[in-house]
Amino acid sequence: MSAVTICEVGPRDGLQNAHHFMPTETKKRWIAALAAAGLKEIEVGSFVPPKLIPAMADTAEIVSFCRTIPNLKVVALAPNLKGFQRALEAGAHKVTFPVSASRKHSESNVRMTPEQMVEEVRKCAQAPHPGVEIEGAVSTAFGCTMQGEVPEDDVVRIASALAGFCDGVALADTVGYGNPAQVKRIFSRVKGEIGAKLEGAHFHNTRGLGLANALAAYEVGVRSFDSSLGGLGGCPFAPGASGNVITEDLVFMFEAMGVKTGIDLDRLMAARRMMVEAIPQEPTYGHFALAGLPKGFRASA
Ligand code: COA
Ligand code: ZN
Repeated sequence: MSAVTICEVGPRDGLQNAHHFMPTETKKRWIAALAAAGLKEIEVGSFVPPKLIPAMADTAEIVSFCRTIPNLKVVALAPNLKGFQRALEAGAHKVTFPVSASRKHSESNVRMTPEQMVEEVRKCAQAPHPGVEIEGAVSTAFGCTMQGEVPEDDVVRIASALAGFCDGVALADTVGYGNPAQVKRIFSRVKGEIGAKLEGAHFHNTRGLGLANALAAYEVGVRSFDSSLGGLGGCPFAPGASGNVITEDLVFMFEAMGVKTGIDLDRLMAARRMMVEAIPQEPTYGHFALAGLPKGFRASA
């Protein structure tokens, strides 16, 4: 058993924001390489209108391919009931819904107010979905490029509402505004309201605080983290959003601390090279890729 679960979101959060297109067959090989590196959870795409995000048009095919990979939890994002139904048809194991705490981001991202979006997720949760997990992700939980400050009370209220009918709730720093003190405070507050339903942390590295925020969340008991290989990522409907916390740096940090991730860094780097070859013009980030392993490094046992 790993001590932390890392969900790779590059194929969704990364490619939705990439300027370069990854063909379906290459996506499949890349995801298979990520799974071979030990990632047990991968967000492989989103069920949004293909016209809106053409890079996600092949998600149904990607999901059905990913279901053939042993021991992989296949995660997809959906913004509404139609997307949820498409995700169920394709066979996703888990569906994540973005519910913005920022009114402005919510309207820009899903054309619904936060309250309408909570009701949309409730409708999905009430529809039959045997064996499929539903996660409510509170986006812009640490601030918003459009609205500015996002009141913590709004985050707590939305997380509590979602906890009423979702299997799990995550808090997302969509635009990279969070800092470690804030992360500890908000995660602890939400945990006080919804307990074990609070599962995941989704951080962006826009201001270089992705790892620090992940560590802060770990220290207040979070054990599930989203991240993306090479730090790809960002929300096309949140100006100024940039890449996620970098998977290989996150894995290195935890393994160096003796916290088991179940992920093999050599194989992870092989998956990174495959991604860079597929979309060579896309900027990638990360320190581990530049510096490599320290001499005598031992991964957690
Ligand atoms: N998948 C495919 N098609 C969908 C769809 C979905 N999930 N949801 C709606 N559509 C189709 C409708 O059938 C309709 O098609 P038509 O024009 O042929 O009749 C069209 O899209 C418009 O539908 P509507 O319900 O009016 O949607 P909208 O234009 O108000 O957009 C969302 C609302 C939620 C679908 C859209 O804002 C969205 O997908 N947002 C997510 C953006 C995102 O991925 N952000 C990054 C991740 S956080
Ligand atoms: Zn994100």
